Amino acid sequence: MKILSGIQPSGQLHIGNYFGMMLPMIRNMEKGELYAFVVNLHALTSVHDREKLTMGTLEAAADFIALGLDPERCIFWVQGDVPEVTELTWILSTLTSMGLLERCHSYKDKVAKGIAPSHGLFSYPVLMAADILLYQAEIVPVGKDQKQHLEVARDIGIRFNHIFGETFVIPEPAIAESVATVPGLDGQKMSKSYGNTIPIFLEGKQLKKQVMAIQTDSTPVEEPKDPDACNLYNIFKLFATADRLAEIRKLYVDGGAAYGYIKLELVDLIGDYFKEAREKRAGLLQDKYSLKKILAQGAQKARDKAAPTLDLVRQRVGLKY
Ligand code: ADP
Ligand code: TRP
Repeated sequence: MKILSGIQPSGQLHIGNYFGMMLPMIRNMEKGELYAFVVNLHALTSVHDREKLTMGTLEAAADFIALGLDPERCIFWVQGDVPEVTELTWILSTLTSMGLLERCHSYKDKVAKGIAPSHGLFSYPVLMAADILLYQAEIVPVGKDQKQHLEVARDIGIRFNHIFGETFVIPEPAIAESVATVPGLDGQKMSKSYGNTIPIFLEGKQLKKQVMAIQTDSTPVEEPKDPDACNLYNIFKLFATADRLAEIRKLYVDGGAAYGYIKLELVDLIGDYFKEAREKRAGLLQDKYSLKKILAQGAQKARDKAAPTLDLVRQRVGLKY
């Protein structure tokens, strides 16, 4: 089974990205042929700063590998290193109706948040469809926010097959319902664009500062509280052992849960959880030559997979004469 998903290098990756997308992808190495990539062409729709994009790309790649993605056991590359995807994007865009893209709420949300409404931002879902269809992916694990983009990819694939004959595998989304949306410091969805994140590799004072900033209510310590309604508890539970979580839960229910102490414990838990990965990441970023080599090898593997599909597409539509 072919499983594929990508992540944007548009800012520091956070624990929401980790539990919602990266960890499920890392676990998928066991389940099938895994395709994972850093979508720098997509990030160009919101990042117009060379240094930020190049560093963001290398850091996202290092993050993924440090956290456990093994480039030997999957295909791991940077989107822009496979030019086939942009050619397919153009071909697909000629059969994508304006109405289909106009209905996408992600575009409207991003414009509302202040991202310039460029043509690239509008056609973002077509590039994403090309990402998926080019590799004939069967399963695409994404968060709930990407569900509509998956539907667009399916619609475009179905339309192509209908007009030009069976060409593409129609992908199925895998929405991890079990990983509820990780809340941010303010209780909204944790997101780079809301500035409410705990970046995965924060440490020391900076980590402590973010964790202490998790918003909690003003119920006195001795009063009972509902753990499931508490933002702090919902982040704590991602890191604590089952036994420790049960103890803390009891404190919430019976009274006696002191937010300040729980936060300090959480700082240590997060620090320890990512300790090994943090060291591995530092090593990867210190030796950028080797990191780039891993990515170049990944891109070659991806191109080898992409070429036959693009060749077939060119033939089907009449670009091969
Ligand atoms: P952000 O909202 O921070 O910009 P992205 O939109 O780049 O994050 O999301 C990258 C991946 O991480 C997607 O698959 C998305 O569903 C997942 N993801 C992002 N934020 C969360 C969250 N708070 N909880 C769970 N998954 C998340
Ligand atoms: N749009 C996705 C996001 O913002 C990233 C992405 C690009 C992607 N291409 C993809 C995800 C292909 C899955 C499959 O999270």
